[in-house]
Order: sequence, then structure tokens, then C-alpha cells
Amino acid sequence: MAKKTEKEIKNIWTYDPAPESSDHIQLKDKYDLYIDGKWVKPESGKYYDTSNPASTKKIASIAYGNDKDVDKAVRAARKAYKNVWSKMEPSERAKYIFRIARIMQERARELAVIECMDSGKVIREARDVDVPLACNHFFYYAGWADKLEYAFPNQKVESIGVAGQIIPWNFPLLMAAWKIAPALAAGNTVVLKPAETTPLTALKLAEIIHEAGLPAGVVNVVTGFGDTGAAIVNHHDIDKIAFTGSTGVGKLIQRAVAGTNKRVTLELGGKSANIILDDAPLDQAVEGIVNGIFFNQGHVCCAGSRLFVQENVADRVIQMLKARMETLVVGDPLDKNTDIGAINSKEQLATINKYIEIGKKEGADMYQSHINLPKSGYYCAPTLFTNMSQSSVIVKEEIFGPVLTIQTFRTIDEVIQKANNTEYGLAAGVWTSNGARIFNLTTKLKAGVVWANTYNRFDPVSPFGGYKESGFGREGGLHGLKSYVKLS
Ligand code: NAI
Ligand code: MG
Repeated sequence: MAKKTEKEIKNIWTYDPAPESSDHIQLKDKYDLYIDGKWVKPESGKYYDTSNPASTKKIASIAYGNDKDVDKAVRAARKAYKNVWSKMEPSERAKYIFRIARIMQERARELAVIECMDSGKVIREARDVDVPLACNHFFYYAGWADKLEYAFPNQKVESIGVAGQIIPWNFPLLMAAWKIAPALAAGNTVVLKPAETTPLTALKLAEIIHEAGLPAGVVNVVTGFGDTGAAIVNHHDIDKIAFTGSTGVGKLIQRAVAGTNKRVTLELGGKSANIILDDAPLDQAVEGIVNGIFFNQGHVCCAGSRLFVQENVADRVIQMLKARMETLVVGDPLDKNTDIGAINSKEQLATINKYIEIGKKEGADMYQSHINLPKSGYYCAPTLFTNMSQSSVIVKEEIFGPVLTIQTFRTIDEVIQKANNTEYGLAAGVWTSNGARIFNLTTKLKAGVVWANTYNRFDPVSPFGGYKESGFGREGGLHGLKSYVKLS
């Protein structure tokens, strides 16, 4: 059979458009703050635009909350905590949380579409990963609400009080669920601040919470920017701060709460290693690498952004990766065939492009898929770099985009040392068909999560969190519940 030309190969992968319909979604033009069970205007009267990064078009106006609004929300949360939520029978609390989960499930399609529009992530992921996992977190923690004494046997279990929760833009609804569900199950009340570029699904969640009939003030959503988040961190009547975002802001938060009684959990950045040993099933490994770094445009705190390949299979793996990259579909996030959607914001695209330039200047070899990026919107082609050293900036710093660095190694000891040689320690992946090698590596890699022959798998039962500058505290599972209780 004649060898196919590049054009013919490309044509195999050209699909007809299959956009998910957005007719069924309900969005308002303007969103106020959700405080004390009501939609209230921001004290300053200010609103800002949230837009669709795939088109750069405005979707809605969003209230810009300030310290006065935060104060109102914290007071409402305190009142609800004292008078209602902490006093309620745990089995009653559970019913409310189950109800939230069920309404989310009913509205799953709407939530998935809105998530794509506001964040640029692809519908396949929002529909199959973000939204079902978010629902599952509510189901899972609802189950614990009336079993806290079994979760922590032989200990007195008490709630903490009011939790201030600040979340990022990469998994907007899922992060809201990770934070709100365990807090409520343990009897705490909440003030949540979504990221400035992706507030819509948290606001939809507030509508769902309202519909579920939660007592006023149990969950409050205050939208805004970094100063709104800082107002939550600095509020005197907050008992716990839960933050997911950049290491820089994580450090600021830690400084701000030093010497106070506030508890803190921080889930910060990462520069996770994905390691392919020479006995790995290579097709599966390459698919896992693609999933680990190009999934969600690389906007994943645990993205497998540093690939280490054993030297004797490196050429083959790199060739396979390049071939796979050529078949990735970059484009409309709402299209069901799209693999890589839009970069979340103009600023984030500028950051990613800055790192790509640094990589080139450092002398690394760059390879990008030969694809036509959409004319409007913020897009970045999947990119890989080879020929760098451990001290290259692109190997050391978090890029938070679809950019992979590839290094080789000869021995297992060498790769352990290289993989651990980072300020971060959130996740890692190991690809091998040898079980003993898996156990050897998983015990020696300094990372909160180590996946074996898979990547980016999540479950509400399994805790997630980091080492070193990736933060501290765990979310998910019993560990995640523990951050929301006092034990004695
Ligand atoms: P960021 O850390 O500034 O934003 C995360 C959240 O913190 C947002 O809700 C933001 O409004 C809030 N915030 C900002 N400044 C604050 C302050 N002083 N006090 C309290 N809250 C504050 O992250 P940004 O600027 O959006 O992204 C920058 C970089 O951070 C990315 O390029 C990426 O490397 C990393 N990042 C990591 C994430 C993770 O999941 N670990 C998520 C998002 C970003
Ligand atoms: Mg947006």
C-alpha cells in the first residue's frame, strides 16, 4: 500500500463540527452577590465583565465585591452557623447536601456548557469529568455528615465555624464542590470567592443551593478579584481559610494569617514528573502523557509537565508523541471533537508564550503541532521541548499551559533524583509493566499523588494535595473532611 501523504493523514482526523447546543442554558446578563440567601448589589456599585476566552465576547456582568460585602457575608455565615447549621441534626444536614448533588445532576448539561463558555475548557472534559466529579463530591460528603463519629472514632468531633474559600479558574465548579461539600458536611458555613475570570458556575451553584432550600447564610458567594479574596483572608471572624491557586498568593495568605487562630489549607502549583520506563506499554504511556499535559490546556495544577523517558526508548516515544500531537484537535471548546480548548485568559496566554520564548532562548529544541489555531480567542498549540538541563527555567517553573519538557535518564536512581529536584511536589506518574518498579518509585517520589500507568484520575474518596511549595492539607476523602473539624 502506498504511504499516505501528510495531507491524507490529516484528512483522516478532520471531523465535521459537532457543537454542543447552548440553547438550553439560562444565564442572566448581570449577577449580584449571593449573601444571606439573597442576591444583593455590591456596596461599591461596581461590576466587571466575564467573557468567553474562545471568542473574547462578554457573557455577563459580575458584581465586584469589596471588604464591606465580605463583612456582610461573614456576618451572615456566622449567624447561620450559630443559630442553624451547627445545631441541626447531622442527618438533616445530609439531606440538604444530597439535594444539592441531585439538582446539580439534573442540571449537569447546563453546568457543563456554562463551564466551557466561561473558562475555555472543552465540553468533553466538563461533561465527563468536572461536572460528574463535582456532583460526586456532594454525594460523598453528604454520606459522611451523620457519621462523623465513625470517620474519627474515639474522638470528639466538632465543626470549626466559618470557612473562607478562595478558588482558581482551572476547575471552577469542581473546586467549589471540593471546598463547599466537606465544609457543610462537617457543620461549617461558608464564604466562597470564585476566580475573577470564571465566576459563572459558582453563581449557578448558588442558585442550586438556593433551590435546595439551604438556610440563609450557610453558603455565601462573593465574586471579585484578588482584593476581594484578601478581604476574606483578613476578616477577623473567619475560622478557616482554604485556598487553591498560585504559590505566590499562597505565601501571601500564610503570612497574613500568621499569629491568628485561623486554620489554613493551601493547594498550590506543581511541576509534576511523568516517568516512562523502557518496559512500559508505550502506546498507553504516550496517551497518558498527552492526557497529563494537554488535557484542559495544561491548566491543571497536577499537570504532568516534566516528562522523563528512559534513554533507550526516548527516540521512539518522542516520535510517537509528535505524531499524536499532530492529531489533536485544537479549537471550539463546545465542539465534542475538540481535545484542546481556549487558554483561560489573555494574561495566561501571555504567560505561556513568555515561557515558550524563554525555552527557545535557553537553547532548547521546540516542536509544535502543525495546526491552524482559530483566528479569534486565546489559543496555544501543543508544544514540547527537548534538549534542556535540570536548571532550565522551563523545567523549573510552572507554566500552566500545554507545554511539555522532555528529559532522558538511564537508571531508576537517576530519575528519582531528577523528578524530586523541584520546589514542588503535587503529583507524579510512572509508566512500567513491572509492579516492583512501581512500588519502588511510588515510595521514593516526593509527590502527594503518584499515578501508575494512568494520569489525572480523581475520585472523591481519594485525598489530593502536595509536598513542599505545592502546599499543605488534603482535599477529598476522609483527609479532606478532617480539615473541617476540630478533634479532641
Ligand atoms: P491566583 O493565585 O492569583 O488566583 C487564584 C485565586 O486567588 C483567585 O480567586 C484570585 O482572585 C485569588 N487571589 C488573588 N490574589 C489574592 C490575595 N492577595 N488574597 C486572596 N486571594 C487572592 O492565580 P492567577 O493569577 O489566576 O494565576 C497565576 C498562576 O498561578 C498560573 O499561571 C498558575 O501557574 C498558577 N495557578 C495554579 C493553580 C492551581 O490549581 N494550583 C490555579 C490557578 C493558577
Ligand atoms: Mg470567563
